[in-house]
Amino acid sequence: MDRDCGPLDLVSAERRERIEDRIESLLEEMTLEEKVGQLTQVNADFATGTPVGGLDEREGAASGQLGSLLNAGSLEDARRYQEAAVEESRLGIPLVLGLDVIHGYRTVFPVPLAEAASFDPDLVEAAASVAATEAAAAGVHWTFAPSVDVSRDPRWGRVMEAAGEDPTLGSAMARARVRGFQGEDPTAVDSILACAKHYVGYGASEAGREYNTVDLSETRLREVHLPPFRAAAEAGAATFMSSFNVHERVPATGNERLLDDLLRGDLGYEGMVVSDWNAVGELVEHGSAADLAEAGRQAIEAGLDMDMVSGAYAEHLADLVRAGEVEETAVDRAVERVLAIKGALGLFEDPYQYFDEERADERILAAEHRETAREVARESQVLLENDGTLPLSADDDVALVGELADGPEEMLGAWRAEGDPDDAVTLRETLAERHGDAVTYAPGATPEGEVSDDRLAGAVEAARGADVVVAAVGEPAEWSGEGASRARIDLPGEQRGLLERLVETGTPVVAVVFSGRPLALTWTAEHVPAVVQSWFPGVEAGPALADVLYGADPGGRLPMSVPRTEGQIPVYHSQLTTGRPAPEDLDTSEPPADPGEKYVSRYIDCPNAPLYPFGHGETYGEVTYRSVALDAEAIDRDGELTVTATVENEADRPATEVVQVYVRDRVGSRARPERELKGFEKVRLDAGESRTVELTLTADDLAFWTADEEWTAEPGTFDVLVGRSAEDVVFEGSFELIE
Ligand code: GLC
Repeated sequence: MDRDCGPLDLVSAERRERIEDRIESLLEEMTLEEKVGQLTQVNADFATGTPVGGLDEREGAASGQLGSLLNAGSLEDARRYQEAAVEESRLGIPLVLGLDVIHGYRTVFPVPLAEAASFDPDLVEAAASVAATEAAAAGVHWTFAPSVDVSRDPRWGRVMEAAGEDPTLGSAMARARVRGFQGEDPTAVDSILACAKHYVGYGASEAGREYNTVDLSETRLREVHLPPFRAAAEAGAATFMSSFNVHERVPATGNERLLDDLLRGDLGYEGMVVSDWNAVGELVEHGSAADLAEAGRQAIEAGLDMDMVSGAYAEHLADLVRAGEVEETAVDRAVERVLAIKGALGLFEDPYQYFDEERADERILAAEHRETAREVARESQVLLENDGTLPLSADDDVALVGELADGPEEMLGAWRAEGDPDDAVTLRETLAERHGDAVTYAPGATPEGEVSDDRLAGAVEAARGADVVVAAVGEPAEWSGEGASRARIDLPGEQRGLLERLVETGTPVVAVVFSGRPLALTWTAEHVPAVVQSWFPGVEAGPALADVLYGADPGGRLPMSVPRTEGQIPVYHSQLTTGRPAPEDLDTSEPPADPGEKYVSRYIDCPNAPLYPFGHGETYGEVTYRSVALDAEAIDRDGELTVTATVENEADRPATEVVQVYVRDRVGSRARPERELKGFEKVRLDAGESRTVELTLTADDLAFWTADEEWTAEPGTFDVLVGRSAEDVVFEGSFELIE
């Protein structure tokens, strides 16, 4: 990063000085116990079970033993805790109150992976801003979001929480979400502090199994997993959250090389780091610490500032300091960072500014918030297949099949904060409202894939009597998110069987897939003429999806490759060529016919390519790339290359295009990926409209972790691939990077 950054960079110089003075004077006054209190966060017990660490949250607040609470509950309860801290504790230091506002507070947006599918950072920023406005009115100071975990493994349930497989898309979404949550000034009442998580590498959990071992090379850490954290820090993220996983066999939460050398040193990050839930305590389970006291020592020494619910700091840190095992300066450093975020929020001036019933009533679930949620949901729908069955016509008699079309609970996805299923509008409700008797509903399969004989008969009968079937398939909302890894990622239970029977009726079928991850949809792709990846679209699921089914252009593109089968995982666009790349024209769907086809990097029973590539998504329009050009044959380290693409919509209806720019570094001191996304721009085109987009590349975009262990670009030849997806390339050019 060009300069160190932290929460106090977000406030005016005058405020910063006042806050720093306040921190200095508080530190001088605080007892060791009060300092430890600031580093302790507990979970409000009435929300989810008794607090870990033995602390009663209200007593802890009143006695200065608490610095923060998560899940503080209603505005009234949150105020009660804050009053205990401010009015009763000796120094009256306010609490900072956190909540997982991941994709909306009460107006629930599409899950973050769906938002990333919009490839529209401005829209995603608007969504985060709405979430902040509602949360900030209800007593929330701090959200444990955005998750910026890069992952290439859809078996991992938490792919739904971030932005998919690519560090460039992930970085763009990280910046957008941090800006959306924090706004220009974190002391403003409509903003909350962001928390970039989970630092670092959690998305690489082996076999996609939750909380599993992570074993990352330094190269992959720096090229794939770190960039979105760097982007979040540069965007001003006030806090980070350390992850559950190990790096080089040392738990991230007690890993000085990650938390201090890399984060504070290389990235220059000065914000506050909170652990994940009980992650300090889990150093014992990892076998890295003999007991909770040792875990606490390792964490504070590593640079972990706030202990979420383990009790390690509350129970042992003061003793460790008095025993000379921990320097008090390490505690002071952490306390300064905690007080800095409280200062950045304006809590020293007004600890109650976030408790405003009137503002809450006015802002929460406001009509304009729902409209934003509907737009985001529309722009995140990915049209995977379409033989022309879509869009539907208002004259069509439609058989709507599947409980997922009638499941408000499912539409909110996991991590729904204060989301209420009663607020969600389902596809069934919207179609009934808009198209009345033209739509016949049959429950078909449950989200888990159960289909009784009666249900099957009812669905087939409805299909036979219709012009088109809309089949809602996918997985339950709770099958993705935390603690929700799946070893198999096909359609659950009998859903495929039901689709087969529906297809057999001869009525055209549209499959709408509700899921928190890419599913292995191979049979569906081969037999169903139109397939929409709908994710979990939030409170406006029904209206948004109905808009798209009846003609609004689907704006989404895939933020993750869709595997044909679990056996392909990990499959992603930026793979290395290997020493034996399968020839581009080799039909890897057939067993090798001769040695030249056998001894290359391939399977004998499955193509190498994913079912759908990163960046894929169709439009109802017809977009042609009229021209693509590079404005230079060579650039130096200070130069920039401009890629200019002119696209035209030749259809008589609107179209969407996400122009994607990939780069291949032909030769490097380390093997380099076949292609890496380096830029994208989304354009919406009216019928017949042309648009020219310009994307620039600089040497920074070409940097990687070189064999000399430096983050830099190496001179040489670079290919530029421009297209609609990682595989649908319409232009190839090249340029030289010269010293
Ligand atoms: C959970 C999650 C983390 C979340 C935290 C607080 O275990 O890993 O993402 O922010 O605990 O709920």
